[in-house]
Amino acid sequence: MSLSFEGRVVLVTGAGGGLGREYALAFAERGASVIVNDLGADTKGGGKSSAAADKVVEEIRAKGGKAVANYDSVEDGEKLIQSALDAFGRIDVVVNNAGILRDRSFARTSDMDWDLIQRVHLRGSFLVTRAAWNHMKNQKFGRIIMTASAAGIYGNFGQANYSAAKLGMFGLANTLAIEGRKYNIHCNTIAPVAGSRLTETVMPPDLVASLKPEYVAPLVLWLCHDQCQENGGLFEVGAGWIGKLRWERSQGYIVRHKNQPMNPEAVRDHWDKICDFTNATKPATIQESLQSVVSVLSQVESEGEVGASPTAAASAAATSGINPAEAVGQKLPPSTFSFSHTQCILYALGVGMSTKDPDHLRFLYEGHPDFSCLPTFGVIPSQAAMMDGGLSSVPGLNIDYTQVLHGEQYLELYKPLPTSGKLTSQATIADVFDKGSGAVILLDVNTYSGDELVCFNQFSVFVVGAGGFGGKRTSEKAKAPVPPPQRAPDAVVIDSTTRDQAALYRLSGDWNPLHIDPSFAAMGGFKAPILHGLCSFGFAARHVLKQFADNDPSRFKAIKVRFVKPVMPGQSLQTEMWKEGNRIHIQCKVKETGAVVLSGAYVDLHTASGASPENVPQGGGLQSELVFAEIGRRIKDLGSELVKKVNAVFGWEITKDGKTTAQWTIDLKNGSGSLHKGPYNGKADVTFTVSDEDFMEVVQGKLNPQKAFFSGKLKVRGNIMLSQKLEVILKDYAKL
Ligand code: NAI
Repeated sequence: MSLSFEGRVVLVTGAGGGLGREYALAFAERGASVIVNDLGADTKGGGKSSAAADKVVEEIRAKGGKAVANYDSVEDGEKLIQSALDAFGRIDVVVNNAGILRDRSFARTSDMDWDLIQRVHLRGSFLVTRAAWNHMKNQKFGRIIMTASAAGIYGNFGQANYSAAKLGMFGLANTLAIEGRKYNIHCNTIAPVAGSRLTETVMPPDLVASLKPEYVAPLVLWLCHDQCQENGGLFEVGAGWIGKLRWERSQGYIVRHKNQPMNPEAVRDHWDKICDFTNATKPATIQESLQSVVSVLSQVESEGEVGASPTAAASAAATSGINPAEAVGQKLPPSTFSFSHTQCILYALGVGMSTKDPDHLRFLYEGHPDFSCLPTFGVIPSQAAMMDGGLSSVPGLNIDYTQVLHGEQYLELYKPLPTSGKLTSQATIADVFDKGSGAVILLDVNTYSGDELVCFNQFSVFVVGAGGFGGKRTSEKAKAPVPPPQRAPDAVVIDSTTRDQAALYRLSGDWNPLHIDPSFAAMGGFKAPILHGLCSFGFAARHVLKQFADNDPSRFKAIKVRFVKPVMPGQSLQTEMWKEGNRIHIQCKVKETGAVVLSGAYVDLHTASGASPENVPQGGGLQSELVFAEIGRRIKDLGSELVKKVNAVFGWEITKDGKTTAQWTIDLKNGSGSLHKGPYNGKADVTFTVSDEDFMEVVQGKLNPQKAFFSGKLKVRGNIMLSQKLEVILKDYAKL
């Protein structure tokens, strides 16, 4: 779709000629209402005439566009914005373009040469932009362009005054980009090259003619459009080419030693290292910049504790931006994740479940009597902790986020996952180690439902190029991959992913454009967007669950995988499985190519015995049987009311002669409540174990639940506070 500016009000300063005129015409042609500002000065800032602006306004109107002229100097910023408000009632876009030249070699630069240039370029842009700022802030939309120059970026003989003002405008833009971000005000800077009256004195005439302003204007229009999210960028543009600039910083070198004064000789002696751009970093924010500087303080302080070659280790750490001593043990801000059955179902679809397989229905249909959440959904709440850019806030981890790969994953569940609720995740940097070619960050994430630990994840993150900081090579805290046995697999499942598998999987929360945007994937060196590693992980886990645990999520204990190669959406996954007791080793390949994609992987299952569902004799002439039947009927009648009052899921294990004989789940949290016979299937907030006899005593009000608890007759797992609500429920039934 073409980019329209219908409804937008655009101010272009210095639009009486050159680049500004071109912008004004282009904006108007696409529907904008344009304020054509021009003082009508000569190139040195002398003189004044309304003719320049009027002519452009006439041109626009002749083509059916909307424009008004303004003849004030940009030094009267308020007046320019007032013209926009008077004529069109608002201001959406400001293009700071007005400019003059007073070129002199530095020695001959007069006060006037200096001041005039600063006043028109830097101060003028400040005044016009400030006048527009609050209007943009209130309407939560604004686009601002600053016009810098290659002379400012690189310097140019005879343009000291101009270079200073032009790079000053870039500095101004950097801060406006930060202050404006939350109001949807974006500020970008261009350094154009075009033939105009400003350049005709320095460029040959044919170049002036061929470097047309039309080859610059489209960038300005795009940067000013609603759809453009670029903010704080700096672009060189000319002749139809556009390039983006950014800062690069050498790894640098620490020339100071603990308890010793710093001296210029040390600076001289390490000058080559200070200026060596090998493995340079690209800090993009002041935080990134400061973090690495501040981390040097502790590195110098910890000299002598780091190992055999303390100085080397400390300085190497500073250069790669990784300082394990500082990072390890740091906690990321806790994150919360609220979900309903929708997310569970979406995730199940994302990892390839389908209604074609009747066994899958329990993961796809919330009305299924055994509706459950797939165990590997456990990675989703915890990854939210990282997705919010949590890692970048950790001191001692100054890394290039474009170089981060997901290396390995471990997930362990302590109870089956609920199908809805609010989970809180707490992530800790468990360890950082040095693989030479890169650094490995181990991130341990505990996920809780209330106070209860639901699952544990260990993300193993590989940062390409961040190694060599002199850290240890392995970590005892890492959950290690385990190779499969040396025999043919006991089972193989082949399952195809769809062309849209990644497009579907990303809806579960991993929004990395690498998995959807072809140009982004190309930047990462891939032919096309790749499938999420954790999606293949989900495929493999459910293959094991079906093959060896009858799709029973309560049998799932843990999974470990190493991500080896990417999978392209549409390829088929071949999961090879070896059963060794409760451990199912897995290896996953792309069927079409034979490439191993998950290695050293395994799933640990709980034994299908003892307290597990199929072996628990249900019922068996228990007295409690009748009470639960009545509870079921009551829930049917009064469920919604009870759900409001209680808002919890209770699991019951009824024992007879010391053995669990029946299990029940009273769900007074979801929908209008329900009762299930059988084990608690992941939804219980609290589980009570009590003998059939004592249960009857409690129900009949003969035994107080609290007393039963303290005397050991009633055992409670989970959120013990909920036992208080027990009394409320059971009192109702005491009237039976
Ligand atoms: P230009 O001279 O054609 O346009 C500048 C316009 O600003 C003129 O119409 C002038 O009357 C107006 N102006 C001057 N002082 C003003 C004031 N105080 N208030 C309002 N209007 C005022 O020059 P050109 O080349 O179109 O330049 C546009 C901008 O691009 C300038 O800021 C210039 O420094 C910058 N630039 C241009 C380059 C090029 O290759 N043309 C290279 C680098 C930067």
